[in-house]
Amino acid sequence: MSELNRDGFGSRFGVLVAVAGSAVGLGNLWRFPYMVGNNGGAAFIIIYLLFVILLCLPIMFSEFIIGRRTQANAFGAIKKLAPKSPFLTIGVISVVASICIMSFYSVVGGWTLEYIFKSFSSDFLSASGSNLESQFKEASSSTIVPIASHLAFLGLSALIVVAGIKNGIEKYSKILMPALFFLVMLLAVRSITLDGSAAGVKFLFYPDFSKITGATLIAALGQAFFSLSLGMGCIITYGSYVKKSENLFKISLMTVAADTGFAILAGLAVMPAVFAFGISPGQGPSLVFITLPQIFAQLPLGNVISIAFFFILFIAAITSSISLLEVIVAYFTEELKLTRKTSVLIAFAIIGVFGTLSSLSNGVLADVKVFGKTFFDLFDYTSSNVLLPVGGLLVVLFVGWRMKKADVLDELTNGGTISVRGVILKWILFTIRFLSPVAIAFVLLSSIGLIKMF
Ligand code: PHE
Repeated sequence: MSELNRDGFGSRFGVLVAVAGSAVGLGNLWRFPYMVGNNGGAAFIIIYLLFVILLCLPIMFSEFIIGRRTQANAFGAIKKLAPKSPFLTIGVISVVASICIMSFYSVVGGWTLEYIFKSFSSDFLSASGSNLESQFKEASSSTIVPIASHLAFLGLSALIVVAGIKNGIEKYSKILMPALFFLVMLLAVRSITLDGSAAGVKFLFYPDFSKITGATLIAALGQAFFSLSLGMGCIITYGSYVKKSENLFKISLMTVAADTGFAILAGLAVMPAVFAFGISPGQGPSLVFITLPQIFAQLPLGNVISIAFFFILFIAAITSSISLLEVIVAYFTEELKLTRKTSVLIAFAIIGVFGTLSSLSNGVLADVKVFGKTFFDLFDYTSSNVLLPVGGLLVVLFVGWRMKKADVLDELTNGGTISVRGVILKWILFTIRFLSPVAIAFVLLSSIGLIKMF
């Protein structure tokens, strides 16, 4: 495909909603609340915020620079800037990580679809707490329905991606993202105004630093990368569709702000309600699927709220899964010269199979373990805690030390047409070259036990 007729985002709003659509997803609404619950609450949130501002913002920015500079998919981008260099690993990680993430993401996406339908039936919410728990176990561990739901979710994502950037990804994100914001706001307000919600608010905002360990650090870093879609070529790929006239720093800032805002909002929608109804915050991945319906059941118009919530989850998930698919599809179309349709079909087939394995690992394959983890956990852990941090580390090293400084500055200032204040410029370059790489390396090493701090 020549660069002249390469598809791209049509408007600034389009770029913002699409990038925010990628960032805001199951990571915010499903993963963030249970990570906070499992890792002790506010202390985890503070570390998370520090990582987001100090490490992730420069990485997001670096990925945008690489993408827009080269107008190519993640692998092609590095190939253009540094052919045959070890940094091509970034391109490899991007495709592998996309497949890995999609292989569990699409399964959870399938659960959201199932729960939308479940919410319509009146038995669903009239069930008792333990019944809701067994309902979730049954829904996630049976064979046919979860696999069919996973394939349906994947198929819907594939349909949007086949339509392209402007007429697919951008068009749908413009409608879905504002709807998402409105619905999460509504739920957060409802949750905070419940009797007994104060303990949940305290859990979110009152830190207990004694709970922090090396595992907390890598969990927070992994969560930050996952939530911001970093370290796996996604922002490189989306960046390649951004016009030369857009201000990349502003887009990065707005995306990070929107994603973090959504995570906190999701925390506020979930935790106060969890405490108000005396449920354990450390339930893990099932938190929103078991505890929230328990809450909905005790609210007026519970069914409607339940439908709205799982619809929100579904919207958030699909605007992210299309960005994950796009990473693979951009690679197939540009590097392997396949048509868009064929590329989407191949991606569908690969993820269809791996996703099926991860779905079954909650049921009949529960005893099949690789490195001590089920397929589902393996895909989740390897992508968030290994591939994304390593990918992010390589990205900052690449932009900080390998790319020509003049090129980086050119992208930063849009060829000198926008002025970026000297201090900001210095801070950006310093973090990209020194702070981010050292900090990520430190967290990675402490997570595998090579450095012991705590
Ligand atoms: N950021 C998405 C979420 O929070 C997941 C994602 C990760 C999307 C990596 C793209 C790339 O759900």
